[in-house]
Amino acid sequence: MPDVLAYVASHLDRYRSELYDFLRIPSISAKSEHDDDTRRAADWLSERLNDAGLTSELVETPGHPLVLAQWRDAGPDAPTVLIYGHYDVQPPEPLDQWTSPPFEPTERDGRIYARGSADDKGQLYMHVKALEAHLATNGALPVNVVVLAEGEEEVGSPNLVPFVETHTDLLACDVVLISDTGMYAPGLPSLLFSLRGLAYFEIHVQGARSDLHSGEYGGAIRNPGNALAAILASLQDEDGRVAISGFYDDVVAWDADTRKQVSELPHSDEQFAAELGLDELFGEKGFGTLERIWARPSCDVNGMLCGYTGQGAKTVLPNHAMAKVSFRLVPDQTPGRVRELLQAHLDSVAPTGVTVSLKELHGGRPWKASISGPAFEAAGEALEEAFGTAPVPMGGGGSIPIVVDFEEQLGAPALLVGFSLPGCNLHAPDEWLPVDNFEKGIGALALLYEKLA
Ligand code: BES
Ligand code: MN
Ligand code: MN
Repeated sequence: MPDVLAYVASHLDRYRSELYDFLRIPSISAKSEHDDDTRRAADWLSERLNDAGLTSELVETPGHPLVLAQWRDAGPDAPTVLIYGHYDVQPPEPLDQWTSPPFEPTERDGRIYARGSADDKGQLYMHVKALEAHLATNGALPVNVVVLAEGEEEVGSPNLVPFVETHTDLLACDVVLISDTGMYAPGLPSLLFSLRGLAYFEIHVQGARSDLHSGEYGGAIRNPGNALAAILASLQDEDGRVAISGFYDDVVAWDADTRKQVSELPHSDEQFAAELGLDELFGEKGFGTLERIWARPSCDVNGMLCGYTGQGAKTVLPNHAMAKVSFRLVPDQTPGRVRELLQAHLDSVAPTGVTVSLKELHGGRPWKASISGPAFEAAGEALEEAFGTAPVPMGGGGSIPIVVDFEEQLGAPALLVGFSLPGCNLHAPDEWLPVDNFEKGIGALALLYEKLA
């Protein structure tokens, strides 16, 4: 066994208890009452990077700070790897649906349960420990390394985009390495070839000056709740297609290679549905489930706010209704174009007697790579050595908005090697990361740095 892997194997207990310390910090970027916690997570991470032997600092932004760590002693001929991840997490609600509290990491059945275990603190920390293993065993890294961790990924990376644009020299690299996605199945390591983009909105419907008695006024005026329901229903047809004119114009079909690769992945609709507690799946007609998640855009209500939702019956006409609606995008759709199309759609369907308005929350462009070239080969070998199985190519249905900016601004390919699993409950109650993936993944990353050299 290479020394670096032996080092990893003999320090796993400490690695895990350190990760638990990281997971205990509720770095919820969306909630300002957790701003101090979010900063504490940044400080903690920066200190661990210093402990590992890199030179780390916090970079202030108008929002949550960036953690920037560097180790550049591999020499000018060695490649430079930019490792990106995020130390912020999604809000943990609904709290009553967690088996153990979200910020008290708990191991059950070989799984580490905590908010952020899989997305993304656990995976980000795997890099820190793989770097430590090299520096502790060899006193050096095989490649030059820049670690860039942000605390605003879950809120759309508003301050990272300008930082990347203005620091292209600092961030110059040969490959961008990211562990913030998953493996296709347990024991089956994976290389990601795509991410969907995102366009996220609030649709507001405003009615009368105030809520009103539904007996005195019901039948006389337009109810914003009814109006919003009609608007939402107009966004999709019965076949699961988005019914906004022009929405599919920029959608590029997959190439034959990608289709073939995906058709070879083991998949069962019945099992997929059963694991979700459903008796059937639903989506755009004419496309398989994996294709619908990875290669086709989608439109979903994420939340709604309207009227009386407390105990019992209150007879009232609400004067306002709001829905949070997101679109997952695929190449070559852009959030800007989708906003224009949605606005035009709202203009055409908005009922009279209420005011309909659109507010854009955030967006990100979709990403597609061809899985070839030296970096992908290096990752393939490292994953095969660590997991005992060659990785499969897979797509990603989620979004990491900064990936496209990295590629454009730095001219380096992104390599997405993730270690969560389907069912890990990202953004949901009872998020978990397999202990096995945490351990093997650190080994895989340590091998990957060597192979990238
Ligand atoms: N790590 C996820 C993205 C992801 C998850 C990609 C699984 C592929 C598979 C990331 O933290 C995330 O949740 N991104 C947000 C985007 C953002 C703009 C809030 C998302 O996809 O909703
Ligand atoms: Mn993530
Ligand atoms: Mn996330």
